[in-house]
Amino acid sequence: MPMHTSALSAAARTERFSYAIRNIVAEAQQVELAGRKVRYLNIGDPVAFGFQPPPHLIDAVERAMRAGMNGYVPSQGILEGRVAVSDDYRARGGRTSPERVLLTTGTSEAIDLVLSAAVDEDDEVLVPLPSYPLYTAVIAKLGGRPLCYRTDPEDNWFPDLDHLRSLVTPRTRVLVVINPNNPTGAVYPERTGRALLDLAEQHGLLVLADDVYADTAYEGTVPLLGALDPDAPVISMSSLSKAYLAPGWRTGWLVVGGTPRLDPLLTALRKMADGRLCSPGPMQYAVREALEGDRSHLVAFRTALAERARITTERLSAIPGVRCVMPRAAFYAMPSVSLPPGRRDEEFVLALLRETGILVVHGSGFGMPAHAGFFRVVFLADPATLSSVYDDFASFTTAYLQRS
Ligand SMILES: Cc1ncc(COP(=O)(O)O)c(C=O)c1O
Repeated sequence: MPMHTSALSAAARTERFSYAIRNIVAEAQQVELAGRKVRYLNIGDPVAFGFQPPPHLIDAVERAMRAGMNGYVPSQGILEGRVAVSDDYRARGGRTSPERVLLTTGTSEAIDLVLSAAVDEDDEVLVPLPSYPLYTAVIAKLGGRPLCYRTDPEDNWFPDLDHLRSLVTPRTRVLVVINPNNPTGAVYPERTGRALLDLAEQHGLLVLADDVYADTAYEGTVPLLGALDPDAPVISMSSLSKAYLAPGWRTGWLVVGGTPRLDPLLTALRKMADGRLCSPGPMQYAVREALEGDRSHLVAFRTALAERARITTERLSAIPGVRCVMPRAAFYAMPSVSLPPGRRDEEFVLALLRETGILVVHGSGFGMPAHAGFFRVVFLADPATLSSVYDDFASFTTAYLQRS
C-alpha cells in the first residue's frame, strides 16, 4: 500500500474566505493565556451580556420538544412559522405568501442560500462598505465579485448613491442593503430606500434586504425596504438572533416578495433548501410566538441599547483624535481614530488588546482602508462596565497617539 505523507491541501476558494470578527478571537485567546482578562466587545451576541430570549419563546421550543417534534421538518419550514412570517411581512406593508417563505438556519443561511441561488461565477454583487463580512466571504466562495459601495460617516453612514451608481456594470446582479446597519448602527431615511429601489429597478437587480435589525431601532420599528414598493424584486431576511435575543437557536427566515419576477429564484431556493433537509425543527415553533406573541421585551431592549449608544458616542467622541457617529439602531458603533501616517487599524486594535484586554474589530476586517483608523465596538455590556472600558480605552488611545 502506498504511503502518503504530504498534507492534504484545502481548496483554493478557502483562501478568499475570511471572517475577521471571529478570527481576531484567536489573538484574544493568546492574551488570555498570558494571564490578562479580555473584555470582548467584538461579537454581537446579546446573550453573552446577560440578555435572554423572552420566556414564551423558550416555552414554545420546550413544548415542541416534549411533544415529540424532534424529527425532520419540511425543508421550507413548518407551516405555522411560515404563515407567521408571511403575516408579519404583510402587516409591515410587504407582499408575500407562506409559500414564498423559507425558515432557515439564521439569517446567515438565508444569505448563503439566496446568493447561491442568484450569483454565477464572475457575477457582481453590490455590498455596503463597511461590509458585514459574511457577504464578501460567501460571494468569494461562489466565485462572484463583491462591489463595495461606500457609506459615508460624514453623512450619518448613509449610502453614497453616486459611488454606488458608478460601480454598476452589465454583470451586476444583486444589491445588498443592510438597514439598520451592522457595523455602523445607521438607519436609512425612506428617501434613501426609495433611491436604492429605483437604482435596482433601472439595472434589473435583485434586492437582498438584510432586515435582521429592523426591530432594534431606538426610535421604533424601521420600515422594510420591501414595504416601500411591494412590487419590487426584494428578498427580505431576518431571524430570532437579535431582536428576539436567541442567536444560538440559529433560527431565521427569508421572504421572497410577491412579484412573479422572483419565481425562478424561489424555485431554485426551494431546490437548495431540499438539499439541506431542514433548519432546526423545535426552534421553528418559537417563530409564531415571537411574531404574534408579546413583544414588550423590545421596549426594554431598545431603551437599554439607546442608553449604551449614547454613552459610547459621548465617551469616545470626547477623546482627542477619536470620532464616533451616533448609532440609531442595534448594538454597534464604528468610530475612528486618526492614526499617525503609516499605521494600520489592525496594529492599533492589537495594541489595545495586548495592553488593556479590550477587544474590538479593526475596520479593515469590514473592508475599510487600513490607514483610516476605523474599528467596531459592540456596546452590549452594562453601562458601568462600558464606562470603565471607555476609561481604559481613553488612557490607552491618548498614550498611543502621543508615542506614535
Ligand atoms: C447584518 C447581519 N446579517 C446577518 C447576521 C447573521 O445573523 P444570524 O444570527 O441570523 O445568522 C448578522 C449577525 O451579526 C448581521 O449583523
